[in-house]
Amino acid sequence: MKFTVAIDGPAAAGKGTISKAVAAHFGFAHLDTGLLYRAVGAKVLAGGDPVAVAQALDPRDLQGDRLRTPAVAQAASEVAVIEGVRAALVDFQRKFAARDGGAVLDGRDIGTVICPDAEVKLFVTASAECRAERRYQELREKGMDVTQDGVLADVKERDTRDSTRAAAPLKPAADAVLIDTSGMTIEAAVARAVAVVEGVKAR
Ligand code: DC
Repeated sequence: MKFTVAIDGPAAAGKGTISKAVAAHFGFAHLDTGLLYRAVGAKVLAGGDPVAVAQALDPRDLQGDRLRTPAVAQAASEVAVIEGVRAALVDFQRKFAARDGGAVLDGRDIGTVICPDAEVKLFVTASAECRAERRYQELREKGMDVTQDGVLADVKERDTRDSTRAAAPLKPAADAVLIDTSGMTIEAAVARAVAVVEGVKAR
């Protein structure tokens, strides 16, 4: 049976961690849709045409830590503005969402555009400073040469581009449950998300 959990929100708000934990808790499949845009962005940085690359994307392109760099994140945000790129990725995401046994998809437009009929919609957010601090620690742990100011500027630039674009801008669905993780531990944020899903499943 289909059961879709749509988790949207800005960069580094905790969507990834919450999505993985919710998927593991309920035995659902998980798709990080940001990876689709990152894979397209990486190929465009290597000289590809954005729409052609998106149309030919292969699930094997989504693997590897090479997609987790600030340069690829910015390229992803830039290609994500292009209508033809977004259109090329819709079917794959909708098929994934409709799979038997449940699915969690995280991104920017899952509850609004990709799965407007998702059983659960969460909008996970946090202050820009808090998100930048978390992303800075994450990148430093991976040995990347980044500064706190640089990461904050990147996060703010992506926020602005992702939420002001014409095609499927980042915004909460009208029926999304908001989780602000600014002052929360990750355990508390995961527990809140799991409780919302439990509540809907129990209906
Ligand atoms: O979630 P992320 O940081 O990996 O996403 C990278 C970029 O991809 C993000 O800045 C905007 C774009 N994106 C999108 O437009 N729609 C999605 N559903 C997921 C990501």
